[in-house]
Amino acid sequence: MGKGKTVAITGKGGTGKSIIASLMVTMLAKRYPGEVLAIDADSAMSLPYTLGIQVDPKKTITAMRRSIVGYNDVKKKMNDRPMREVIRDIVHHGDGFDLLLMGRPEEPGCYCAVNDLLRHGMDMLVQDYRISIVDGEAGPEQINRRVLKDLDTLLVVSDMSARSLETARGIVKIALANENGISVRKAGLVLNRVKNDQPLQALVEKVGVPVVGSIPEDPILNQYDREGRSLRELPAEAVSIAAVESILQSVLAD
Ligand SMILES: Nc1ncnc2c1ncn2[C@@H]1O[C@H](COP(=O)(O)OP(=O)(O)O)[C@@H](O)[C@H]1O
Ligand SMILES: [Mg+2]
Repeated sequence: MGKGKTVAITGKGGTGKSIIASLMVTMLAKRYPGEVLAIDADSAMSLPYTLGIQVDPKKTITAMRRSIVGYNDVKKKMNDRPMREVIRDIVHHGDGFDLLLMGRPEEPGCYCAVNDLLRHGMDMLVQDYRISIVDGEAGPEQINRRVLKDLDTLLVVSDMSARSLETARGIVKIALANENGISVRKAGLVLNRVKNDQPLQALVEKVGVPVVGSIPEDPILNQYDREGRSLRELPAEAVSIAAVESILQSVLAD
C-alpha cells in the first residue's frame, strides 16, 4: 500500500473534535475494514469511549517512552526491532479499525532522542494504513506535542462562538507556518453545532482557510454522548451523520 493518508482534527476544547473523529473512524472502518488507524492525542482519552473499545490504559506512547528512557542501549531494549514494530505492539484493535493512544503529555526533561524515535515510528506506522485520523492534534497551546510530521489534511473545528473561531485562527496560523517541522498539505474549517443562527461571516473568513463543512446541533448525538454510549451505534438518521459523511467525502477526494 502507498503512503497512508493522514488527517488531524484540532480546535478549541469542547468544540466536537472527538465526536467528529469517532464518526469518521466509524464510517471509514465500514468502508475500509482493517485499514483505518485512529490516534487519540488527547490525554483525556475520549476515543475508547466514543468508539466503544476496551483498552489497556497502560498501552500508550507515553508509557512506552517511560519504559525506554534511561536505557543506554535503546536498540537492545527493543530487541533490535524497528520502532514501527514496537509501537504496533501497543496498538488496540477494534471492529474494522485500530487505535493508538498517546497518553498523558510528556513530563519535563529532555527525551529528545527517544521522542524523535517515537515520532519516526509513528510516521512509519501510519504508512501501514489507508487512512489515519488523529483526534486532538496539538493546538497552539501544546504545539510541541505534534503527533505526525506530515499531515494531508488538518481539520480545525469551531463552534459559532467568537472565541472558538479566534482559537481556530491561531491554530491555522501556526499550523501553516511550517514551523516545528510540520507540513500540512491542506487545512479546512469545520463549523460544528450550527443552529439557525448565522455564523459570523467576517470571523469565519478571518480564520483564513475554506469551510469544509458544517455540522448541525444534533440532539441524538448529544444524548448518546451524555449517556456514554458508543457513537458507533448512532442511528443513521442522526443529522450529524450526513454532515460528517459529506466532510469525509471532501477529505477523501483531496
Ligand atoms: N453537533 C453536535 N450536536 C450536539 N452535541 C454536540 C455536537 N458536537 C459536539 N457535541 C457535544 O459537545 C461536547 C464536546 O464534544 P467533544 O467531541 O468531546 O469535544 P472535544 O473533543 O473538541 O473536546 C460533547 O458533550 C458532545 O456531545
Ligand atoms: Mg476530545
